[in-house]
Amino acid sequence: MTPKPTAFVTGAAQGIGLATAERLARDGFEVVAMDRQADRLEPAVAALCAQGLPVLAAVCDVCDRAALAAVLDSRPRVDVMVCAAGIYNDAAFLDLTEQAFRQMLEVNVVGTFLPAQEAARRMQAGGRIVTISSRGALGGTRFAHYVASKSAVVGLTRAMAMELRARQIAVNSVAPGFTDTPMTRSAPPEMFAAWEKLEPSGKAASPEVIAHAISFLASPATQFITGQTLFVDGGKSLGGLSI
Ligand SMILES: NC(=O)c1ccc[n+]([C@@H]2O[C@H](COP(=O)([O-])OP(=O)(O)OC[C@H]3O[C@@H](n4cnc5c(N)ncnc54)[C@H](O)[C@@H]3O)[C@@H](O)[C@H]2O)c1
Repeated sequence: MTPKPTAFVTGAAQGIGLATAERLARDGFEVVAMDRQADRLEPAVAALCAQGLPVLAAVCDVCDRAALAAVLDSRPRVDVMVCAAGIYNDAAFLDLTEQAFRQMLEVNVVGTFLPAQEAARRMQAGGRIVTISSRGALGGTRFAHYVASKSAVVGLTRAMAMELRARQIAVNSVAPGFTDTPMTRSAPPEMFAAWEKLEPSGKAASPEVIAHAISFLASPATQFITGQTLFVDGGKSLGGLSI
């Protein structure tokens, strides 16, 4: 029997990564759910396995190349890599520390580059890499380091797509708008509510909505789409003021 295609998802202990692991498992992939938080990853994966879904847990930091390589080598094939691990924090530009800036780039950019490169080295024609940018890549106040990191992910995605297209590996990015995950729920409730009001629909997206777009770009049917960034933000990125 041909083994199922295998999808690796970083940042899969919670939020968008976890919803993506579940979506891809339901869509026919064997999924390796990767995260650095063992205490959250293992119960989350156990809950998916209890539903009969083929999901494995791998505790791994996205900034650790050797650990990433070991996880990828633990399965016979690498068909899809979704780079969903990321961090967010805010600070006014004038107060932003160099340490916070470097840490944001380390996790969000280097932590996308390393799993994408290790996966691409092991992929056959038909491989798919999906990065996670953000509507924040377009700009915003009080998170210059996050904006810089997510703009870098968009650029990295385009560059990877150009170099990998000859090998028929497609590389695309999903740019979520404000999404209801532990990341955004870590803000005080009044701030979460204020952010939600700024959305065109007045609501945060669910992680499942974002996972659906990621699954689309991971599908074998989308081989002619590469280097693109798909905004999944209810239209907020369109800008403009209207009545
Ligand atoms: N929630 C939003 O509104 C939103 C909007 C746009 C983009 N995003 C992006 O979507 C992605 C997922 O966000 P989320 O909201 O689900 O966040 P989340 O904080 O709920 O989950 C992120 C996961 O990444 C993991 N992670 C962080 N650093 C890691 C590392 N070094 N190695 C391994 N795992 C690591 C965390 O342990 C966590 O499980 C992130 O890249 C984020 O920037 C989120």
